Amino acid sequence: MNVDILLGLQWGDEGKGKIIDYLAPKYDIIARFQGGPNAGHTLVINGEKTVLHTVPSGILQDRPMNVIGNGVVIDPVTLRKEIENLNSKGVDVNKRLFISKKAHLILPTHKILDAASEAAKGVEKIGSTLRGISPTYMDKTGRNGLRIGDIISPAFKTIYNRIKEKHLNLLKIYDFEFSLDEIETTWFEAIEFVKSLNLIDSEYYLNNALANGKSILAEGAQGTMLDIDFGTYPYVTSSNTITSGACNGLGIPPTKIKEVIGIAKAYCTRVGSGPFPTELLNDTGELIRKTGSEFGATTGRPRRCGWIDLPQLRYAIMINGVTQIAMTKADILNDFEVIEACTDYKVDGKLSREVPYDMANTVIEPQYHKLCGWKTDLRKFNTYDDLPETFLGYLSFVEEYLGTEVTMISTGPERERLVFKRAMEAVS
Ligand code: GDP
Ligand code: IMO
Ligand code: MG
Repeated sequence: MNVDILLGLQWGDEGKGKIIDYLAPKYDIIARFQGGPNAGHTLVINGEKTVLHTVPSGILQDRPMNVIGNGVVIDPVTLRKEIENLNSKGVDVNKRLFISKKAHLILPTHKILDAASEAAKGVEKIGSTLRGISPTYMDKTGRNGLRIGDIISPAFKTIYNRIKEKHLNLLKIYDFEFSLDEIETTWFEAIEFVKSLNLIDSEYYLNNALANGKSILAEGAQGTMLDIDFGTYPYVTSSNTITSGACNGLGIPPTKIKEVIGIAKAYCTRVGSGPFPTELLNDTGELIRKTGSEFGATTGRPRRCGWIDLPQLRYAIMINGVTQIAMTKADILNDFEVIEACTDYKVDGKLSREVPYDMANTVIEPQYHKLCGWKTDLRKFNTYDDLPETFLGYLSFVEEYLGTEVTMISTGPERERLVFKRAMEAVS
């Protein structure tokens, strides 16, 4: 059968985990394709919150198998914690989780290098999650990495030590204090734990599943504007967060892709440094942060908040070939009299609807269209036709601008708070 992809259209934290958890029973396999424990995907079921960093967001549903693809970078310590936490909740993770042997390992020294590099950048820091993501992908593309499949090799420790020595030499260029012994011991204990998991050639598993009529939902992490190629470089993450990343990160052919579901909040947030044209450094921004509990699921850092940015979303839709949009967190704007949406960027006195080459060094004056707020609690609506006129007006403005339908509207963090525009058959 086909692969559908679900990914973030903004700067991450759009609510991917929530929507994937809801959609998961409709698929045979949920497969994460990139990123690592920099991600924090939140699921709320019967009032209980679970934050997933590496394990795919289908794990709390009974039907699908879950795959951590080759494009993901894995910190065995985080993975172990996550699996043990799920096991303690009664989830038999090992029965439903496969891990690609080609996924790269985050070493203790990758995390130290991440921290040292960020500290050295001072005010120009990326605002990394300090999970070792960038040094690990650097070693992957530099062809120096260690992969999950290597952990059973007799040469594992020797290769590890070689890479560690290289990292320790690199660390000499930084004035950065660290202690390795304790985290290294924990890391090797976690490696033993990982040996007990299902380590597979996931590209064969996934392609065989497709050949046998099974359906796959590919789970993105981060968001389009954090993509290493098309995001707000250099304030990005180190992987391809976009549709094409699913092909690289899982080994599935582009011809198998059917629906691309893009997720966007009804406003916009960003955590970490870097450009954010519609950021609200005022009471409105503060109100959105407070009402929306906009604090990072991985680091707890306050998220920067602003209005929805339509030129940015249009760009993300173009890059990803989005076929439908899921909108989250409109309920956070329930009490607003007026909702604003950025329709144009003014750069050097000229209006533009394109994302400039170097957003970080371009002065952008966002131009806003004002829309009437719905002033109703969206959480009480379960069907599309019952949604208030004013909210539907906001939706059609967004849809018309983006030329793409909003087919799902999330009205709360809980699994069941999701309103569909059309029947789910549209998804594979
Ligand atoms: P992800 O990284 O894209 O999975 O998103 P996060 O989990 O980091 O952040 C999204 C946050 O918003 C989480 O706390 C979710 O529980 C919450 N959330 C998701 N959808 C909705 C929604 O429609 N309304 C509200 N109020 N909260 C939501
Ligand atoms: P999910 O999957 C939001 C941001 C960091 C930083 C930049 C680089 O939960 O949406 P990294 O640690 O990757 O080197 O950090 O990317 N970032 C995220 N922001 N959501 C995420 O993931 C993120 N993962 C990384 O804040 O600005
Ligand atoms: Mg998140």
